[in-house]
Amino acid sequence: MEHLATVVSLRPATEDERPALENLVELYCYDWSELSHLDVREDGRFAALELAPYWRDDWRHPFVLVVEEKFAGFALILERSTLTGTSGVFDMAEFFVMRRYRRQGVGRAAAFSAFDQFRGPWEVRQRQENPAATGFWRSVIGEYTDGRYLETPVATTEWIGVVQTFSTRAMPQI
Ligand SMILES: CC(C)(COP(=O)(O)OP(=O)(O)OC[C@H]1O[C@@H](n2cnc3c(N)ncnc32)[C@H](O)[C@@H]1OP(=O)(O)O)[C@@H](O)C(=O)NCCC(=O)NCCS
Repeated sequence: MEHLATVVSLRPATEDERPALENLVELYCYDWSELSHLDVREDGRFAALELAPYWRDDWRHPFVLVVEEKFAGFALILERSTLTGTSGVFDMAEFFVMRRYRRQGVGRAAAFSAFDQFRGPWEVRQRQENPAATGFWRSVIGEYTDGRYLETPVATTEWIGVVQTFSTRAMPQI
């Protein structure tokens, strides 16, 4: 399949792009509905994430993934650990590549760009019901860090899964 990595850009979403991002989140929820048995509300939409805080709080970073000037996904990045609340730790809160762009290196290029743009300690979490995501992150983080990452099981009252932890601070940008 054609490799699209060279034409992928991951850039901050403007506040004007919030409605577009909300629509992309809706598609992301639709994908998740298969794994987590989510239903739509009476208006036919999922109870989507509240995105307004992403333009209010300086520790939240909304990004759109663009391929050849078209939206191809998004990344929601936090500068605070979701597991411990520690600030200064980057957390990949949500990450999505639209189906038509998958398995062409788009997610990999976007993840590398995120790690390049936010230098420091990272935590990337996956729920156990999404083993494909774990396969993806192991591959991408393994390559980015040259295998220098830890993977730890996590079980909280809200979710069960794994977290990969690593630091991009000392790594050369790829
Ligand atoms: C997971 C996801 C981001 C992958 O994006 P992508 O653009 O298809 O990934 P890439 O093409 O860059 O894949 C890079 C490598 O990751 C691994 N990988 C990708 N998708 C995978 C899958 N479904 N299962 C197992 N490994 C996978 C492969 O090693 C792949 O390399 P290869 O294609 O040469 O074998 C995408 O499928 C997606 O958005 N899924 C729905 C949302 C989601 O699960 N987000 C993550 C939440 S933690």
